[in-house]
Amino acid sequence: MSGKINDNPKKYLTITFGCQMNEHDSEIIAGMLENKGYLSAEGQNDADLIILNTCCVRETAENKVFGLLGRLGQLKKQKPHLIIAMGGCMSQQEHIAQRIKQRFRYVNIVFGTHNIHELPALIDRAEYQKNQIIDIWPDRKDISEGLSVKRFHGVRAWVSITYGCNNFCTYCIVPYVRGREKSRQPEAIISEIQELVRQGYQEVTLLGQNVNSYGKDLSSGIDFADLLVKINEIKDLKRIRYMTSHPKDFCDKLVTTVSHLPKICEHIHLPVQAGSNNILKKMNRGYTREHYLELVDKIRTAMPGVSLTTDIMVGFPGESDADFADTVDLVKNIEYDSAFTFIYNKRQGTPAAGMQDQVPDQVKVARIEKLIALQNEISLRKNKLEVGKTLECLVEGPSKTNADLMSARTRTNKIAVFRGKQDMVGMLVPILITGCGLTHLEGEVIPAE
Ligand code: SAH
Ligand code: SF4
Ligand code: F3S
Repeated sequence: MSGKINDNPKKYLTITFGCQMNEHDSEIIAGMLENKGYLSAEGQNDADLIILNTCCVRETAENKVFGLLGRLGQLKKQKPHLIIAMGGCMSQQEHIAQRIKQRFRYVNIVFGTHNIHELPALIDRAEYQKNQIIDIWPDRKDISEGLSVKRFHGVRAWVSITYGCNNFCTYCIVPYVRGREKSRQPEAIISEIQELVRQGYQEVTLLGQNVNSYGKDLSSGIDFADLLVKINEIKDLKRIRYMTSHPKDFCDKLVTTVSHLPKICEHIHLPVQAGSNNILKKMNRGYTREHYLELVDKIRTAMPGVSLTTDIMVGFPGESDADFADTVDLVKNIEYDSAFTFIYNKRQGTPAAGMQDQVPDQVKVARIEKLIALQNEISLRKNKLEVGKTLECLVEGPSKTNADLMSARTRTNKIAVFRGKQDMVGMLVPILITGCGLTHLEGEVIPAE
């Protein structure tokens, strides 16, 4: 029975782990379910349907899901009609699907990353079928266009431009669980953004594991820079962001394009992973330290004031003290605005998991602590440089850490908190920066003349 013709509609809850791709997939799942007549639940207790959208990029992400599945098993004892569906990157791995089949029989549906559009039909089946349904596709057949999306954020919207990844960095599980790289047709992307603008969105973030390789699989010859030119022309759109950029594919044409187009924000997330050529090679990243440093130079010359952020990993197999020192040296040299730091974690089925000379845990921990301390010092110093400037900020909503303050985002992707009112949400306002912390700026709105 679907919720559509029912006076007492069923309620769903999505619980999402992992990156923006997963967050956005959950928006699509929510859109499909609301189309089907479901309402969004307040929490686990009033939900009739709980969908876990999982991540497997590191073991910690997986452990969280197993912990949650255990708790949901208890909940299901009290609410036998509860339907539990598990999708996302974890489900896409064969050994995990097997484990769910054997140890978590009460999970009604296991689906993958390539067939989320099938979920409504799977839910219909689960309403009358007692047996666990496992439906995972090895890869995406075609890109499903036109699915309804329920945006969780009212001010900035995510738009996928590519799915999957072809890079096979030796530590990474993503290519195995997200399939081969596929680009959406430019027309589909443009019309989605035009519709978002009609709905009042002013900022979009283009998503892909490697946005810079957009279009390589399309016959039209369009590349990422060409796509940006088209998006920049969309009337009333104010800001364009994109992630993730892969350093090996950030070509000169793209540097010129992002520095010239007025709507492209001055922020580039450019994961470096490691500062040592020896490790970059073993990671199969496809660039050298020298190439990366030269690219950063080109970007900074073309776009003075650009903010640069990165992902860095410590403890990749074979990482020596000298290799780690190269990473520290690179971080000191570049001075990122902020960085996500990770301890290398073995992922089953990836080449690095089978490499000899894995680094002992205590060495990894000591390295990441040193790196975090260094980056924190740099981040704070960089934020202090913003004090005294007036920055254009897009107001997003109440601050997550202080209910008396509102939160806005600079073009450089920094959070600025200020005293303001709820009705400012969605407005672009000039904010004079008066102070800062490690992860945010503080300021006050400059009143219009
Ligand atoms: N496509 C993006 C990143 C996707 S995963 C890119 O190429 O940069 C996000 C980050 O998780 C990666 O940048 C990497 O730093 C980290 N990561 C991926 N696999 C990991 C692993 N096995 N152990 C630790 N961190 C990992
Ligand atoms: Fe993983 Fe590398 Fe692809 Fe990023 S580019 S998703 S790190 S394989
Ligand atoms: Fe995790 Fe999948 Fe994203 S593994 S990081 S949710 S692509």
